[in-house]
Amino acid sequence: MMPITRRQALQLGMLGGLGVVVGGVGLSQTGLPWLAPSTSSAGAGGESLVEPEVVRSRDGVLRVELVATRRETTIAGQRARVLTYNGTVPGQTWRVQPGDRIEVRLRNELDTPTNLHTHGLAVSPRDNGDNPFVSIDPGQVFDYRFDLPEDHPPGVSWYHPHRHGTVADQLFGGLYGALIVEGDRVPVSRERVLVVSDISLTGDGQIVPVAAPEVMMGREGNLVLVNGQHRPQLSARPGQRERWRVINACTSRYLRLALPGQHLELLGIDTGRELTPREVQEVLLAPGNRADLLVSMRAGSSELRTLGYDRGGMGMMGGGGLSGPGTLATLAVTGAEAAAPGPVPDRLAVPDLREKSVAGRREIAFTMTMGSMMGPGRGMMDPGFDGRAFDADRIDQRVSVGGVEEWLITNPTPMDHPFHLHVWPMQLVETGGQPVREVTRRDVVNVPARGRVRVLVDFARHPGRSVYHCHILDHEDAGMMASVEVG
Ligand code: C2O
Ligand code: CU
Ligand code: CU
Repeated sequence: MMPITRRQALQLGMLGGLGVVVGGVGLSQTGLPWLAPSTSSAGAGGESLVEPEVVRSRDGVLRVELVATRRETTIAGQRARVLTYNGTVPGQTWRVQPGDRIEVRLRNELDTPTNLHTHGLAVSPRDNGDNPFVSIDPGQVFDYRFDLPEDHPPGVSWYHPHRHGTVADQLFGGLYGALIVEGDRVPVSRERVLVVSDISLTGDGQIVPVAAPEVMMGREGNLVLVNGQHRPQLSARPGQRERWRVINACTSRYLRLALPGQHLELLGIDTGRELTPREVQEVLLAPGNRADLLVSMRAGSSELRTLGYDRGGMGMMGGGGLSGPGTLATLAVTGAEAAAPGPVPDRLAVPDLREKSVAGRREIAFTMTMGSMMGPGRGMMDPGFDGRAFDADRIDQRVSVGGVEEWLITNPTPMDHPFHLHVWPMQLVETGGQPVREVTRRDVVNVPARGRVRVLVDFARHPGRSVYHCHILDHEDAGMMASVEVG
């Protein structure tokens, strides 16, 4: 059923009928000189795409010093004080191999507590591993160590903060970076990393703080960025094939990627892989999802767009205008025809969890229950799972290590929620009441408003305690998270 469902196609028609919805981008595209970015290519549709600096593992180890700090930098042609890893938005791109070890010394120079999560890695959640219960106070340092199994699947992952209560603010402010696990080569003329995020800035370059009502739907920034740039420009030659690793690092915004006029093929989503590249017209990325794409270049100009996605709403609060359509980047394909790239080699099959027996079944519901009418900010809806808000001292699911479980995730609320489970691989087996035939591994699965999905979860390895949560990060911080103990 991924990446497009009939329902989404219908919504596309609806959106078309409504005409242009707030896209959140475009101020500097108005042609007004005082709004244009002060770059050499102002007026030409933006600056050329810059990719984050790459750091690679050597001899099986990637060692990184990571400083989370507020810095002045340029965002969309404007000086802005944002949150950075080592001074840049996004942070560096980490490239590793299966079996590698990643060692990170994280220094917190922010004024709020933080920590680090390696989203997409199947590694131990214990101690100094991918442990979401760690809290690093301002001024403190913490040493992480992530050991990737030898058979870790290749794919597009990413890293970002995960300290409950500060996650949405810190991602919105600029803290995220790409983490690529290599191991499935495809002949291409180049690879690109495209980290898509959104942010809102005040006229004097400060991050706009979230307003209480925005938390209910999840905030969306009015600037959509690719690698920290507003509508950057890409160029290529006809006949070239490129591999694009796209990360939806937005706090709450859904992306429906399309590249009209170009030949787009899907290699995989998250760390799931298509057996053969599949031609697609569009790819839906909920917050947290990643896409691994092949683009075969055709002469002409194209736009990398998000087509707009209706993620529901809460009655009067609505969702109208959220995750609306917009242009992310422009692509100019000119010059002499390049030589044809080599064929795409056969890809490693991902094991099908349906071949295993099911050791347990559970049902988990996204809930937004009426909060208490007392106290500040109350009387709104309290996001949680199964009617409860997150409590770090409570274990919500106890699972025995070694088995495969079937989880039914239901969403009785009027808006979509992206379900994300750390560490343990999920295979989507049912959505919209229909079985999913292909082996579809995901770590973020969108659960549509008033809908449900069924997944199989592989608890074969990595005992310890971790979390599942909504990847609309305002929801997560407000309590839409719960813990799993595997032992
Ligand atoms: Cu990308 Cu628990 O998050
Ligand atoms: Cu994660
Ligand atoms: Cu949610």
